[in-house]
Parts: sequence; C-alpha cells; structure tokens
Amino acid sequence: MNPLAPDILFEKIDAIEAAVYDLLLLADPSRDCIEEYLRQSEVYTAKRGGELVGVLVCLQHSAALMEIKNIAVKEDLQGQGIGKQLLTKAIALAKDKQYERVCIGTANSSIGQLYLYQKLGFEVNEIIHNFFTDNYPEPIFENGIQAKHMIILTKELDT
Ligand code: ACO
Repeated sequence: MNPLAPDILFEKIDAIEAAVYDLLLLADPSRDCIEEYLRQSEVYTAKRGGELVGVLVCLQHSAALMEIKNIAVKEDLQGQGIGKQLLTKAIALAKDKQYERVCIGTANSSIGQLYLYQKLGFEVNEIIHNFFTDNYPEPIFENGIQAKHMIILTKELDT
C-alpha cells in the first residue's frame, strides 16, 4: 500500500462548489447520475498547497461494501500520482469504517483506470453488459474504444 503523501490534504465536505462539480464531471458525464449518488455519499476534496487537485465520492452499499462512485484529478495535474493517492485514501477510509471490501466501476474503454485500480489490488468481479449504451444518451469513446460495459472491480480489505 502506498503511504499517503503528506502534502495532500483531504477534507470531507457537505456543499459542492462549482470547481468540485467540474471535477465530478470529468469522471462521470451524467449530471443525473451524479445528483443521484451525491444524495447518499460522502464527498472528500483533495488539496495541495491550498489548491483543489482532486475529488473522491464514497457510498455505503451495505455494512460490508463501500463503493467509490467518483474519483477525479484536475486535468492539468493528472499523471503525477494524485489519483493513486485518492484511491489509497479511499481504501484507508473503508478500512477505518470496518468495511470488508471496496468496489469501483469503470468502462471497458477506461484502460488507464483499469490499470490503476488493478495495480492497487482491485480485481475484476462483475461486468454489467451495455451499461453505458443503455444509460447514457450520447455514445462515449475513450482510447478509440466505445464505452459499452461497466466493469466492477473489488478489493478485499483483509488482504
Ligand atoms: N492511461 C495510462 N495510465 C494511466 C492513466 C491513463 N489514462 N491514468 C493513470 N495511469 C497510470 C499512471 O501511469 C500510473 O502508473 P504507475 O504507478 O505505474 O506510474 C498510475 O496509473 C497512477 O497514476 P496517477 O498519476 O496516480 O493517476 P492520476 O493522478 O492521473 O489519476 C485518474 C487517475 C483519477 C483516473 C485521473 O486520470 C482522472 O481524473 N481521470 C478523469 C476522470 C476519471 O476517469 N475518473 C475515473 C472514472 S471511474 C469512477 O470515477 C468510479
């Protein structure tokens, strides 16, 4: 597990400012979906030197399972290890809250995200076929691949 970098400060927030909402939209283009899960989730901002650099949204699925609903890093700061820090923070939060496992869903086309999540110990355990084609009005393409299916990855916290 990567220790949390001391220069990134996480804060649980109640009100979502525009700059935070813009980050949420990087991970999820559907405002309807965002509004739906925000009602039931905990939202954390990540700041470095006072600057907002990322956001993390965690939802309690059951007593045993926490889901990361949204994770995003400011576009011009991606690729500097902040996403790994956000994921490490989510895992630490889930452990603190005594969950047994944590899950995250992403598209079949999200190659970098699939790499990052598996690198931190998440394993593919479910595929929701046609999730994106059935639930999003516009086709989504990443890396030249259409986002069709939702891949759910889970990390067991006792390992
Ligand atoms: N392509 C290839 N590799 C990638 C990518 C990518 N798009 N993104 C991250 N990686 C790799 C990095 O190379 C790095 O590898 P290394 O540890 O071997 O050096 C590792 O993953 C960690 O990279 P970070 O720099 O920590 O990642 P970053 O700060 O860019 O954050 C994130 C990753 C959160 C996915 C960011 O790129 C982002 O905000 N993207 C847009 C929003 C998004 O897609 N969010 C996830 C949607 S799913 C959900 O929210 C539930």
